[in-house]
Amino acid sequence: MAKLGPNDPCWCGSDKKYKRCHFARDQLRILQGQATEQTPPPPGFRAVKPHALSPRRAVPEHIVRPDYALTGRPANPRSRQLLKTPEQIERLRRACKLAREALEVAKAAIGPGVTTDEIDRLTHEAYIARGGYPSTLNYHGYPKSLCTSVNEVICHGIPDLRPLEDGDIVNLDVTIYIDGVHGDLSETVLVGTVDQASRDLVTTTYECMMRGIGAVKPGGMIRDIGKAIQEHAESRGFSVVKAFVGHGIGEQFHMDPQVPHYFDATQTRELVPGMVFTIEPMINQGTWKHVTWEDQWTAVTADLKRSAQFEHTIAVTERGVEILSLPEGMAQPFAH
Ligand code: MF3
Ligand code: CO
Ligand code: CO
Repeated sequence: MAKLGPNDPCWCGSDKKYKRCHFARDQLRILQGQATEQTPPPPGFRAVKPHALSPRRAVPEHIVRPDYALTGRPANPRSRQLLKTPEQIERLRRACKLAREALEVAKAAIGPGVTTDEIDRLTHEAYIARGGYPSTLNYHGYPKSLCTSVNEVICHGIPDLRPLEDGDIVNLDVTIYIDGVHGDLSETVLVGTVDQASRDLVTTTYECMMRGIGAVKPGGMIRDIGKAIQEHAESRGFSVVKAFVGHGIGEQFHMDPQVPHYFDATQTRELVPGMVFTIEPMINQGTWKHVTWEDQWTAVTADLKRSAQFEHTIAVTERGVEILSLPEGMAQPFAH
């Protein structure tokens, strides 16, 4: 496209002059070598914009809270525990089952015109009805009870008063704290009628997650997971986000090990039965790079092309891998 002048309308669809909108950021990205030019949006493109947040939701007194609930900061130093006991894994299994139930509640409510704040309300109530605390609520200050990441939002989108639109894709990332452990899973869902390119992105992202999980076996290495994911994503012409990784999970929300979703030859840590971690690839139509909104949470693709994500919490077993966050009644797809 022709180079925009400072007084032209910004390419993002904001109706602001380019110099009042993305100009400074584009210049910075060019200076930092992240781009060589302005990124043209497709015709009719409308960027996701921040909307107002509803007031903070309350959690009843009887719900047991994680250590950061009041202050926003985890009180305990990051645990180095890599292996969970069978008793811990049993509690994680239950937390993941209840997180799954809350995700199903959220999914059932998705449709054009529904705000992500309404999804937050339903999910918040679903955790509490099951005796759990919304893990994200005040985690490092995060203001809501799940993450809702729409279209070009990669992750950590904050539920707000934006109504979902026909043709959107939205990732619902649901986490519960119950019996002293966290359960974490997410899915990307379609809103109304979605274009074929976005549906291909969502399907491929799901396949990437499952291939990553399928690469888990005792005696293998962490890097096997990213290798399987990256190969599949790139074979379909997509890119893999590097800045956000899977994570160990248990008594703390984010623990060791870190699990990159791209191939990193240095990730030679052995997979050992008793490890519990998430696999949650974020796959993009364009660049893998991101920009963070002024809210300090919402990560969007640097070129504003779409991104999708799926997440399961898994345990490494003697024979392979157990998915802790499967839907009720679904058979384990790999040896476990
Ligand atoms: N659920 C996200 C994950 O998969 C973490 C959200 S943390 C928040 O790791 F603070 F952003 F909510
Ligand atoms: Co998550
Ligand atoms: Co996670």
